[in-house]
Amino acid sequence: MKVVLITGATRNTGLAVAKRFAAEGYAVAITSRDGTSARETAEALEKEYAVPVRGYEMQLTDVRSIRQVFDRLQQDFGQLDVFVANSAHLGVGYSLLESTEEEFDAVADVNIKGTFFCCQCAARLMKETGGSIVTVGSVQGTGGLHGRAVYGMSKAALSVLVRYMAYELGQYHIRANNVVAGAVHSSRWDSLSSEELAARRSRYPAGRESTEEEIANAVWFLSSDQAASITGTDLTVDSGLTACLLPYTKKE
Ligand SMILES: NC(=O)c1ccc[n+]([C@@H]2O[C@H](COP(=O)([O-])OP(=O)(O)OC[C@H]3O[C@@H](n4cnc5c(N)ncnc54)[C@H](OP(=O)(O)O)[C@@H]3O)[C@@H](O)[C@H]2O)c1
Repeated sequence: MKVVLITGATRNTGLAVAKRFAAEGYAVAITSRDGTSARETAEALEKEYAVPVRGYEMQLTDVRSIRQVFDRLQQDFGQLDVFVANSAHLGVGYSLLESTEEEFDAVADVNIKGTFFCCQCAARLMKETGGSIVTVGSVQGTGGLHGRAVYGMSKAALSVLVRYMAYELGQYHIRANNVVAGAVHSSRWDSLSSEELAARRSRYPAGRESTEEEIANAVWFLSSDQAASITGTDLTVDSGLTACLLPYTKKE
């Protein structure tokens, strides 16, 4: 049975990814900053999908905590086939002019340093067997928005990281790719009025945001044998948002 580890998978997109792999018959390991929440979510997934699921506490700001989780995973499952770097500090409101050193470090520690050392641990486990690493990036790593400068930089770093992983790890049959997500529907959208929702959706050529399951589909595809020759690249899932030169308007 193949094994996947997904960070930050007790809710939203991470949970959708965990469900997708469980439905495909993978043994699943998930992490959270909150160990209780990780274990409870794992228990629920195990019941629902009848595959082995483990939940681990991981603090992405602490490289020792990251290494401990990969050691536990090796003890519990004996192998790792797919690693999905999903957790992120969203860095909302950290603008170019106002961000403090502490705010910058908080985002960089999780999104760049934490992700890097997770990928290093994953690659070390996959070295003998091969495997696939998928990071979850963002369109904010390709263009600007108010208050997201630090987050955007950290997400752009993932595009570079997967290229280096493709280069250095290809000889071990390890592939690495980045899903560049656009707007993704989550519980955070629940507070929007129907007018606000319609206005937001009118900005996307595809007419709507992605679902969490659609991001999970992209992660699944990149991990699967169907993508066996795809490595070191970005797969953008953004309803056409970054295809627009100017704000999108429908032709009257
Ligand atoms: N939602 C979107 O519109 C959107 C768009 C583009 C890209 N993305 C990317 O898609 C991925 C999933 O996003 P999501 O919307 O599902 O986000 P989310 O649930 O807010 O974040 C994913 C997980 O990251 C962990 N996390 C959050 N803040 C953290 C912090 N300060 N330090 C360490 N871990 C933290 C949380 O796990 P625990 O609390 O359980 O540890 C959380 O469940 C992220 O990489 C995000 O950047 C999302």
